Amino acid sequence: MNEMIEKIITRHAIRKFQDRQVEESKLEQILQAGLYAPSAGNNQYSRIVVCQDKEVNLRLGRLNRSMDMVQTADPEKIRPVSAEQPSIRDDLSIKDAFYGAPTVLTIFVRDGYYAHEDVAFMAENMWLAAHFLGLGACYIGRAEKTFDTDYGRELRQKWGVPEDMTPVGHLLLGYREGPKPLDKPRKEGRIIRA
Ligand SMILES: Cc1cc2nc3c(=O)[nH]c(=O)nc-3n(C[C@H](O)[C@H](O)[C@H](O)COP(=O)(O)O)c2cc1C
Repeated sequence: MNEMIEKIITRHAIRKFQDRQVEESKLEQILQAGLYAPSAGNNQYSRIVVCQDKEVNLRLGRLNRSMDMVQTADPEKIRPVSAEQPSIRDDLSIKDAFYGAPTVLTIFVRDGYYAHEDVAFMAENMWLAAHFLGLGACYIGRAEKTFDTDYGRELRQKWGVPEDMTPVGHLLLGYREGPKPLDKPRKEGRIIRA
């Protein structure tokens, strides 16, 4: 198999992080990979906020966690996400939706033209770049809800994010704690050849 494709296939969602910050040189490469993601009409509307402030990340992660309604619906019906790297869906005792990641990226985008697709491409570029550089990463949703709070509004103002931009998601970055998660088999029948 092609080396790059093999790398893509071995990417995982990482949810346990060492207490070790991402080196600036690696972070810079990851951000570049994000900036070079495609964007609809080459609008380049997205913005990435890099936060390495432990206190802010913890507060935001807890706020994000409190926005997660899935578990409260019917915990019995929720299928486990990962045995080795439990997600907030699997383990109700996890109160920080950012899992203590030392670097948290928040992706904002100007609403409108394929905005969410732009963010998804950007996040995946950076997720893969992190993996290529030996780092762990995980995408976290619910950013819009998290920022629709007093603290969220205060923070985006402090960060100087333009008012017409919407926070869509977060990408956690850091060094993985513990063994590599097992590969998650992909469901059969997802390719339909016409
Ligand atoms: C749009 C999106 C939202 C996600 N939100 C979360 C999240 O809030 N918390 C989390 O722990 N993982 C989140 N994930 C990671 C998925 O759970 C993970 O990608 C999935 O379990 C497959 O595992 P893999 O990435 O290791 O292949 C999200 C992934 C995507 C694409």
